[in-house]
Amino acid sequence: MAGTTQTTAHEHWGSRLAFVLAAVGSAVGLGNVWKFPYITGENGGGAFVVVYLACIALIGLPILIAEILLGRRGRMSPINAVSATARREGRSPAWAGVGLLGMAGSFVILSFYSVIAGWALAYVGRTATGTFAGADAATVKAAFDALKASPWQLVLWHTAFMALTAVVVGRGVRHGLERAAKILMPGLALLLVILIGYAATTSGFSAGVDFLFTPDFSKLSTHSVLIALGHAFFTLSLGMGIMIAYGSYLAPGTSIAGTALSVVVLDTVIALMAGTAIFPVVFANGLEPAVGPGLIFQTLPLAFGSMPGGALFGALFFLLLTFAAWTSTISLLEPTVEWLQERGQGRWPATIKAAVTIWALGVASALSFNVWSGYTVFGQNLFGALDFLTANVMLPLTGLGVALFVGWGMSTASASEELGLGETLGFRLWHLAIRFVAPVAVVVVFVYNLL
Ligand code: PFF
Repeated sequence: MAGTTQTTAHEHWGSRLAFVLAAVGSAVGLGNVWKFPYITGENGGGAFVVVYLACIALIGLPILIAEILLGRRGRMSPINAVSATARREGRSPAWAGVGLLGMAGSFVILSFYSVIAGWALAYVGRTATGTFAGADAATVKAAFDALKASPWQLVLWHTAFMALTAVVVGRGVRHGLERAAKILMPGLALLLVILIGYAATTSGFSAGVDFLFTPDFSKLSTHSVLIALGHAFFTLSLGMGIMIAYGSYLAPGTSIAGTALSVVVLDTVIALMAGTAIFPVVFANGLEPAVGPGLIFQTLPLAFGSMPGGALFGALFFLLLTFAAWTSTISLLEPTVEWLQERGQGRWPATIKAAVTIWALGVASALSFNVWSGYTVFGQNLFGALDFLTANVMLPLTGLGVALFVGWGMSTASASEELGLGETLGFRLWHLAIRFVAPVAVVVVFVYNLL
């Protein structure tokens, strides 16, 4: 079936494994290794993890299934897939607004995500050259602060990262990406195991593991619940149209539910592994778990600086983190490019236009760490504000739209036909989750946070 296309813009994945890898590649990224640990640190640890896991199981998984289903049924970019399906179901084409909001989300996220991915890239060279050998916490922090303070360095690394992303997206989905993901994802997991092994030798191991896995609900606020919900969307690449776009390339007959489950399990395992590697180092060195976005850049170099072969492992780790981020940025660029293609543009011109526009917005985020740090929106720099707006507002809202459309707008018969599960218990549970649990949960969390 390889190569059978329905429209010129629509390739199929080479195999089910290829789709799983690409979807896992999109899901596993900075969200798992960079963001999950620092928001867990900021939100008090174990209790936050419990809420996050509940959000993943009750809301994330059902919506992931719904997005892939929608993409495969519509066979187009998020906006057009939703409007085509709506028409087919006799519903208003205005549902396409859900796809539009999602695409806007992927556009904005990519702009600042690429800046952080640039940090990972910058740290490959820094660790390889032994910058952190024997360094103490203050030195490591100073090095990180210096990077953030330099507009030129941030813009340079961000530019490099956007270029890497555009090159792959311009070439199409099949070439290179599938093959790379097969090697890189297991590599990242292996290095995390090595880091956990190191963490186990530090004096902070039990404190770190306790922090992550022993829930203390008194530390949890309703705001933390919103953050956990937003992160469930962010880490699974939901609410952005990505999984709709990826689903549109999925061959008929492939099990959507089974695929989605593998993505969720792998994504969650990698996030928990990252937390287990990081918090012991935090506690062993008397660091604060709640330092925010700089957490891994201020803790992991300490681990690498004091372990044998640390320069090598450190460089490899940041290289793999870069690759993990890369498979995610590629997925973030895809919906916009696919949509421009459907409007008649060639793949390369579409890629370049989208990439340059997103790059420009990213420059503003990069500068918000230094020269523009004085400009704040709701008390945060531009980077923080865009992160909050996308993860905690736009993604859940798009997710709500997807749940309502697939749960209520589409007939049960169409949904069950596309999933190929018949009327099994699994199907019924999913349908219940998508019609009631997910929408109600998203609305409740929102309303609570407005009050
Ligand atoms: N899921 C990715 C991560 O956890 O790093 C980030 C991401 C990729 C978010 C793609 C959104 C997206 F569409």
